[in-house]
Amino acid sequence: MKDAALTSLTLRRPDDWHLHLRDGAMLQAVLPESARHFARAIIMPNLVPPVVTAAQASAYRDRIMAALPSDMTFEPLMTLYMTEETDPDDVEAAFTSGIARAVKLYPAGATTNSASGVTDFDRIRPVLDRMADIGMPLCVHGEVTDSRIDIFDREAVFIDKVLKPIRKKNPDLKIVMEHVTTEDAVDYVRDAHKNTAATITTHHLIINRNNILAGGIKPHYYCLPVAKREAHRVALVQAAISGDKRFFLGTDSAPHTDPAKLQPCGCAGIFTAPNTMSCLAEVFEAAEALPKLEAFTSLNGPRFYGLPPNEATITLKKGDPVTYPEQISTGDGPVTVFDPGFPLHWHVTP
Ligand code: NCD
Ligand code: ZN
Repeated sequence: MKDAALTSLTLRRPDDWHLHLRDGAMLQAVLPESARHFARAIIMPNLVPPVVTAAQASAYRDRIMAALPSDMTFEPLMTLYMTEETDPDDVEAAFTSGIARAVKLYPAGATTNSASGVTDFDRIRPVLDRMADIGMPLCVHGEVTDSRIDIFDREAVFIDKVLKPIRKKNPDLKIVMEHVTTEDAVDYVRDAHKNTAATITTHHLIINRNNILAGGIKPHYYCLPVAKREAHRVALVQAAISGDKRFFLGTDSAPHTDPAKLQPCGCAGIFTAPNTMSCLAEVFEAAEALPKLEAFTSLNGPRFYGLPPNEATITLKKGDPVTYPEQISTGDGPVTVFDPGFPLHWHVTP
């Protein structure tokens, strides 16, 4: 049967391997949007102040669980924010006790709330060595921050200048290259070592840089790494639908209020939590690859992180256009939901 004929698809409940939940009123509003469809998520630590220590991760996890509606289940998989002062013993304690599943590496200045990130990568060597010893994954924001490097080239340059040297010095470290946006990154991961994987976002499978810049500037399509040209988007779709175990979903759903995005210096981040699964089904259907969706959303990620896939399932059913709000309201202000630019027909049922 051709994929086009499929009107119903049951898969193991998906996980989101890169998610921003924020804190306080924003957390309260956005958490149900992820928990509705996703069983687990890797929670990004770029709060203000950042989630650096095991104790901070534990406290943040408690705040997330306190914000979860009582009729929902969801498991936050916490990460620690790498700084040049990060203590290898604290990292090991966080991992062995189950408080944190990974460490997030932000080059200082690369993105939202990354000022406390890393400038001198040699200074984190003891932490990386320890992580390799204990099997703890490193999640990497793969962009250089040198202002002389064109923003569209920052991911490719990062691979050569930072990632390859880290990998060379530490072949045993498990590395997830987060939210890849280029064919260069797809090729790097595909050719790499067994300990290397990549997350791909929903929006990078759908938009290219024209969506941001052609016909007027569209701040709601601005995120980091910035969407690249169409050939790169096509390479990402090919990787996502390939079934290759090294590629899995990390939505990078990153809510900012509209006033924070719609201003002369607007924030980077796209909020995809409410309609991600419908968007992905549409993308996979268009590529005649619906049977590969489960590997991307529900199997490859847990495999890399050494966790069992979820037992529960969701069913996607094709029907009339899916309705979802243009914005959700939060205690901090309205947050606009990702507009894929085409109607969605795949409804998620529990
Ligand atoms: C993220 C955010 O807002 O925290 N923004 C984004 O554009 N993706 C940070 C990040 O993951 O780079
Ligand atoms: Zn992110």
